[in-house]
Amino acid sequence: MIIKTLYLENFRNYIKEELSFSNSINFFIGKNAAGKTNLIEAIGYFVLFRSFRGVPDNELIHSNAYYFYLKLLLEKKEEDHIYEVGVEKVNQSLRKKVKKNGKKVNKISDLISDIIGVFFVPDDLEYVNSISKRRSFFDYLFSLIDIEYLNTLIEYQKCLKQRNELLKRILEKKSSVNELDFWDNKLIKHSIKIMEKRQIYIDKFKNYFYKRVKEISNENDELFIFLEQNDINSFEKEFLNNRYKDIYAGTTTKGIHRDKFLLIDNKHKDITLSFSQGQRRTVALSLKLAQYDILVEKFQIKPILFIDDVIRELDQHRRKYFLDLLVDCGQAFFTTPNFEDDMKMFKELKGNQCKIFEIESGKIKNEF
Ligand SMILES: Nc1ncnc2c1ncn2[C@@H]1O[C@H](COP(=O)(O)OP(=O)(O)OP(=O)(O)O)[C@@H](O)[C@H]1O
Ligand SMILES: [Mg+2]
Repeated sequence: MIIKTLYLENFRNYIKEELSFSNSINFFIGKNAAGKTNLIEAIGYFVLFRSFRGVPDNELIHSNAYYFYLKLLLEKKEEDHIYEVGVEKVNQSLRKKVKKNGKKVNKISDLISDIIGVFFVPDDLEYVNSISKRRSFFDYLFSLIDIEYLNTLIEYQKCLKQRNELLKRILEKKSSVNELDFWDNKLIKHSIKIMEKRQIYIDKFKNYFYKRVKEISNENDELFIFLEQNDINSFEKEFLNNRYKDIYAGTTTKGIHRDKFLLIDNKHKDITLSFSQGQRRTVALSLKLAQYDILVEKFQIKPILFIDDVIRELDQHRRKYFLDLLVDCGQAFFTTPNFEDDMKMFKELKGNQCKIFEIESGKIKNEF
């Protein structure tokens, strides 16, 4: 799987650019605010079909324009595929169009595993520090490897929204309690399916994760993932017993949206209380590397790597570990403001296969 070219129009600080990539490491170099991360965001858009920075689409449109357009050429199993996305401001709202090989895609979630990529960014630390972000991390990963997980989760979230609205109406005496039956049945069914799958996939994930933590920390750190969820056998009963509590709370207080993927140290303490900043960085990196491992196993391909500003935060041992990974990775996109140092290392690693794009104020100034 290789991204061959990217064309962008009115995306962030770019007006119009076309880039043709190396199938090895592609460097985006340039001063702060030049537009390096913006390029990662543009290519990465085709992995997530949204910004990896989690910002809304309207922020991606160039400040002087009313639309952005991106087009990407991908080679997969010796075939070329064209992906296009356009987002346009129409009156007060946004219109988003996605096309694959010229055909409009109506359900974007169908494209979730078309282009497999892993992002390494400073914000990965949030997956360590925040329980809800961590849950999203696992939901995204499990969705990638199991489309049924994704579809069940989408259905679950729709039902949850409906049920929460109904709970409020019941409290306001605008609806009756037995109207809950319909949503409760669905939610219970979806919850149990998600709970079963989470147990299976978290066990798979643990194997890779523990191995990565050990390697990166030089065997110094020890931690465990503990999935805190309801007992599957008694879930239905407990969920239904919670009805009146939910009505008074105006929200669904039990269910998979509240489950926790706990990270605990060898003294059973939450690592966010006991691990140093550096140790947490190791954990964040290990989460992403284990994601990479699982995707390799599932798809039998090397995911595309997006590495934005990560390396300079690492100490020597972790830096070395990370660079070794890049030696046998597939395609990678790598930003660095610190060109001289990083480049020396990579020249040794990859020889002339690398391509360097020098960026200045939203323009590709040089390619070499
Ligand atoms: N919608 C937009 N329209 C025009 N310019 C934008 C838009 N969004 C962001 N920018 C500009 O893009 C620039 C930031 O680009 P980017 O985040 O890619 O920088 P960078 O090269 O990664 O810098 P750093 O080394 O600091 O990480 C800023 O100057 C910002 O003003
Ligand atoms: Mg940046």
